[in-house]
Amino acid sequence: MPNVVIVGTQWGDEGKGKIVDILTQRADTIVRFQGGPNAGHTVVVGDKQTILHQIPSGILHDGKKCIVGNGVVIDIETLIQEIDEIKSQGYFTDDDALLISEKAHLIMPYHKKIDKAREKLKGKNKIGTTGRGIGPAYEDKVGRNGMRIADIFMDDYFKNKLNTILTEKNFYLEKYLQDEPCGEDEITQNFFSLREKIRSYVGNAALFLQNAVDDNKKILFEGAQGTMLDIDHGTYPFVTSSNTLSAQASIGSGIGPKQLNTIVGIAKAYTTRVGAGPFPTEQENDTGTYLRDKGGEYGATTGRPRRCGWFDLVTIKHAINLNSITHLTLTKLDVLSGLKSIKICTGYRYNDSLLPGFPADFTVLEKCTPVYEEVEGWDEELTGVTQYDQLPGAAKNYIARIEALTGLPVGMVSVGQKRRQIIMLQDPFSIND
Ligand code: GDP
Ligand code: IMO
Ligand code: MG
Repeated sequence: MPNVVIVGTQWGDEGKGKIVDILTQRADTIVRFQGGPNAGHTVVVGDKQTILHQIPSGILHDGKKCIVGNGVVIDIETLIQEIDEIKSQGYFTDDDALLISEKAHLIMPYHKKIDKAREKLKGKNKIGTTGRGIGPAYEDKVGRNGMRIADIFMDDYFKNKLNTILTEKNFYLEKYLQDEPCGEDEITQNFFSLREKIRSYVGNAALFLQNAVDDNKKILFEGAQGTMLDIDHGTYPFVTSSNTLSAQASIGSGIGPKQLNTIVGIAKAYTTRVGAGPFPTEQENDTGTYLRDKGGEYGATTGRPRRCGWFDLVTIKHAINLNSITHLTLTKLDVLSGLKSIKICTGYRYNDSLLPGFPADFTVLEKCTPVYEEVEGWDEELTGVTQYDQLPGAAKNYIARIEALTGLPVGMVSVGQKRRQIIMLQDPFSIND
């Protein structure tokens, strides 16, 4: 069975982009199925760094089909900038490599304004969104008030719909959010000009994927964000506005759930979070600073410093269950080099008892105390290691401990930003062959 889903097990930024880039050599088609330009997926090839936001991270390889599925919300303006940028870097030389679902919803200018204005209004209670209009765009999708990619190619339909929508949006922007209204003509002219730049990429992505399944092609699904940011199962309300879990790979691309065969959960060897919300293993001390400095923990989309803390098994187990994860990939193990000892959170204590699982109530979560197991650290730098046997004993022990505590195999270990800095123990595409 050829298909592999990549999902984040923490609060995003686990290194999904790097792993997708590596696995792309083994795949035919790479699909984004949720999220939008809130994602920042970093791929480093040689000394060149590329950050993908809306286009699948497989685009840096020739001869692969990259699909932006119906579950993604698209900002056309920044999508075009992204296309121009990767083309200027010498990638994406064949326009046939990209297919955008005609059913994907659009992030409109008023969505971005509303996102930013609401955050401003919330003050210290803000979610810390990326300001890319994600929440308002998904709200309109679910509220049956959204604009889809297909809509911008139908002149009268688009104009009439925009007119109706803007009556409501501009009232809300001006009267409630005390912001400037959006101009109807300006949006129409801009969208009618932008649409020409994407017209050739737009099509029936679900049909393409259904045919790919029939032809036994290998499909790689690229999740964005992470399990703890999932709208249903994450640390609500400090989450994103889409389902980030593996099941969404089916709905957000248009193929059935039985086509999702191997589910790889990407886990950083420690934990990070960007934006507000509870984070039980956060280290607001020298350890946190060490991890941030050594790991270069600054947001790939917004540049914000990421909050850093210890590896948290409670969240990882939550992710394993919710996503049906079959294999783990451990990233950024190299960042832990130099720490005398390393902590793994094995449970949360609340009011003197251990919680049985991940609590739904974030006020409970905020008051939880993590229970830690401590393991030995190592001094050796790992960035040159390509074989498991070359790892120091303490690093092997850390991996083995995670495998024992989760009951899952670690199939890949990443030890640096670059393509070659990977220890491949099990190729996810060959597992069910
Ligand atoms: P994503 O959103 O999950 O794709 O992750 P990001 O790209 O936002 O953040 C991960 C960061 O860690 C990027 O700067 C990557 O280049 C970098 N990275 C990925 N894997 C490794 C690794 O194994 N070691 C180190 N040191 N950096 C890594
Ligand atoms: P990748 O795919 C890390 C966070 C934001 C904020 C919350 C809601 O690179 O892992 P939104 O703009 O989605 O409404 O913000 O979600 N967030 C991410 N954090 N990585 C991401 O994506 C994220 N996308 C959104 O910081 O806390
Ligand atoms: Mg990221």
